[in-house]
Amino acid sequence: MIEIKDLTVKYRGKNGDTLALDGLNVNIEPGEIYTFIGPSGCGKSTFLYVLSGIMKRYQGSVTIDGRPIDPRKQRIGLILQNYGLLPWKNVYSNTMLGLKIKNDQRRLDEYGSYILKQLGIDHLLDRYPRELSGGQQQRVAIARAFILKPDLLLMDEPFSALDAITREEMQELFLNIWKQNSVTTVFITHSVDEALYLGSRIVVFSPSPGRIQEVMDNPCFMLDNFRYRDEYYDMSMKLRRLLEDKG
Ligand SMILES: Nc1ncnc2c1ncn2[C@@H]1O[C@H](COP(=O)(O)OP(=O)(O)O)[C@@H](O)[C@H]1O
Ligand SMILES: [Mg+2]
Repeated sequence: MIEIKDLTVKYRGKNGDTLALDGLNVNIEPGEIYTFIGPSGCGKSTFLYVLSGIMKRYQGSVTIDGRPIDPRKQRIGLILQNYGLLPWKNVYSNTMLGLKIKNDQRRLDEYGSYILKQLGIDHLLDRYPRELSGGQQQRVAIARAFILKPDLLLMDEPFSALDAITREEMQELFLNIWKQNSVTTVFITHSVDEALYLGSRIVVFSPSPGRIQEVMDNPCFMLDNFRYRDEYYDMSMKLRRLLEDKG
């Protein structure tokens, strides 16, 4: 379990400090998808930077199974808002980058090839990021994270830049791959619909500076035709109210 206790993050600036997270407390249980939802600027990305180990300057404690977060010891897959591909590396190298950083000598194996095929990018391995559409770049970032077989998958609004059809395709794909290994996932979004489709648990941020407002089980998760069910209507009303209330 990931335990986050009294997490506080301040950014230092010329015109004073910005309090990005203010005493945030939440537990993340293994094998669940947590969708974190909150207004722009409430500290969602900052929260992921801390969880991924990129940001080390914070107060409070963040532990995985009782040990401090250490990206060298834990396998953490990270998909950032702007994809995070290296422009001078082709799709193949970008995809394998996660393993390389881990000093893992694995080549593209059966699982990796399966992921690339599922994501529809197996024919693009020689291309460079600039030769790809936004949707294709996003798929490369996702392939990279999945091929790492992470213990923890962190995704920061990964589909928000995609058109509606591609976004739905990617959401479904993500769930299909997730079903095979139930990797613990923290998925940041600002879409109520996405939070309800992808999250087994839903966490609502307060407006800036970020705290946790509410943690909910999601009755819509994996429900057939969930958008036509009462549960969906009730949950989306509830979430919209929470987000509006203090926004
Ligand atoms: N590098 C930075 N320097 C100063 N302030 C920052 C920096 N990055 C983010 N912030 C501020 O911290 C707060 C949280 O930002 P962020 O985590 O990006 O929010 P979100 O992802 O929810 O939109 C915002 O008020 C933002 O302006
Ligand atoms: Mg953000």
